[in-house]
Amino acid sequence: MSSPSILSALKKLRDLLSRQEKVKVLWIAVFAVISSFFEVITASLIVVFAQVLNQPEVGSHYLSKLRFDPHLSSSRIILYFAIAVGMIYLIKNTFAAIEIFFQNFSIQRMSYSFKSKLLNKYIESDYGFYLTRNSSLGVQVVAGDTEVLFSSGMIAFASILSETIIFIILISLIVYINPSLALIIFTLAAFISLGLTKIVLPKFYQFGKRLQEISIKGSQTLLQFFHAFKEIILLGKRDTFIKAYDVQALKRSRTQAIQTSINALPRVIIEILFVGLFVIAIGFLALEHDNSSQMMGILGGYLYVGFRLMPGLNRIINQLNQFKSAIPAIERVHHEYTTIAQSESYKDTPNFHFNKNIKFNGVSFKYLNTQTNALQNISFEIEKGECIGIVGETGSGKSTTVDVLLGLLIPQKGSVLIDDEFPVNSLQWHKKIGYVPQALYLLDDTVENNIAFGEITIDQEKLTRAIHAAQLTKFIEKLPDGLQTVVGERGIRLSGGERQRIAIARALYRNPDVLIFDEATSALDNETETKLMQTINQLSKERTVIMIAHRLSTLQNCDRIIMMGGGTIQQITNYQNLIGNKEKRNA
Ligand SMILES: Nc1ncnc2c1ncn2[C@@H]1O[C@H](COP(=O)(O)OP(=O)(O)O)[C@@H](O)[C@H]1O
Ligand SMILES: [Mg+2]
Repeated sequence: MSSPSILSALKKLRDLLSRQEKVKVLWIAVFAVISSFFEVITASLIVVFAQVLNQPEVGSHYLSKLRFDPHLSSSRIILYFAIAVGMIYLIKNTFAAIEIFFQNFSIQRMSYSFKSKLLNKYIESDYGFYLTRNSSLGVQVVAGDTEVLFSSGMIAFASILSETIIFIILISLIVYINPSLALIIFTLAAFISLGLTKIVLPKFYQFGKRLQEISIKGSQTLLQFFHAFKEIILLGKRDTFIKAYDVQALKRSRTQAIQTSINALPRVIIEILFVGLFVIAIGFLALEHDNSSQMMGILGGYLYVGFRLMPGLNRIINQLNQFKSAIPAIERVHHEYTTIAQSESYKDTPNFHFNKNIKFNGVSFKYLNTQTNALQNISFEIEKGECIGIVGETGSGKSTTVDVLLGLLIPQKGSVLIDDEFPVNSLQWHKKIGYVPQALYLLDDTVENNIAFGEITIDQEKLTRAIHAAQLTKFIEKLPDGLQTVVGERGIRLSGGERQRIAIARALYRNPDVLIFDEATSALDNETETKLMQTINQLSKERTVIMIAHRLSTLQNCDRIIMMGGGTIQQITNYQNLIGNKEKRNA
């Protein structure tokens, strides 16, 4: 597994951020420079303070420059320096607190707006492309990877930026005070970072990659476990499914344990190195200075700089590891963001009208990742106000035809036009349609919210009418909380027929011009279906109705019936002819 460079990950981050956000990142860097400036002042002051503690006269020299009384007592001099140190700490740390808030708020804001940007991109994506995807991936990218990208990656990047600036400036300070000591520290730091980039960092990329793979498999296994609950029990596959998750969970725990442990190692190593360095420094100074109190002063300063550098270096390493393990997330988010197949669909056609007809003209459609056409050269015409039935064996292309008509699937050949001019992938066309799918998705919400799907203020009159038309009135009266009853995830607390009637009510609520039913009455008993068909026939007087059904009797009142087989239209006829043919054949 190759480990891509931090630089290429940063380039990807740059692609993902807006101009405004890049400016924010620049501000984060500016804050870092200012805070490193405070660090340097503090460090210099501490170096001087350490000397003053040993030789107060040194302090009086500095103070007299600031127009203080040159005959101050030693204790006064020390007190003034102590106050100065206290003040600079107060300023430095207040600024540091502001910096931390600024960093975190800026980055989390980027995270929030990016998630929203990503969701917008997904909903705009091509429906055919959507069909090829696993929903665990989408959930992982939006909720998992994006979170890692910002909370781990960006925060790490910001810390590396500020810590590195502080580190470089502190090193420069040491260069200024004692070049040979600085050389030693610098060489050591160079060795550490070399070892790091060659050995440790690539590992962290791999950890990140592995964790990413595991978590997507893990959440898929988990989702399947809960969705297939009934099947797992009845088919006696408890052990298989629990074991499948155990395997993922174990892999995850192991990787996580190794990653966290290795991440803690640098601290231990750096501490040893620094103490070693400190001993070396004492040796150096002992050679240079005979006076032990002078040596103490300089050492005190070094000690401070050293103990400021040590955790700093440690943080840089940890943040580098963190950044490296965030790279797989950055890559996947970048990949998703740049390659989600954008549909050319959902056009805004302000002067849209549907007054005459819908025309399919030589439409062929093939699903992504398949070999054969699901629709093969389909042509037909639906007049406005007509009721059209579609029949045919399963897999003959009925649902595909409807999805093409809905503008969700874009045919590779041919065209579908409304009134000879408007495309079906039009926002205005969608507004005219009430669609009842074969498999309805119910929200884990109230009956009311499932019918008015996504509507913030529900029109009670429209709601009552839709419920009545969908034969749901009696059912809702019997519910414990009426319209406010929660149906459970995917409507698990409802029967198949009840779910279908909610789907129908959802379509009717919008009072659409065009009604499309995809085997929408298959789960209803004969009596309910008959009643429902009466309402639909009533409704169809002023509307265009397209109805896929597997019971021919459902289509009694349709003006024409399209018979499909193997992705083609085999015949366009009417109910009387079909029944007649059947009787002839039976005779
Ligand atoms: N998302 C998909 N990806 C690939 N092939 C599909 C997809 N959906 C349907 N098909 C295939 O397209 C053909 C037509 O399916 P469909 O229109 O759903 O049939 P029907 O609604 O008449 O039962 C079938 O062979 C089916 O296997
Ligand atoms: Mg179907």
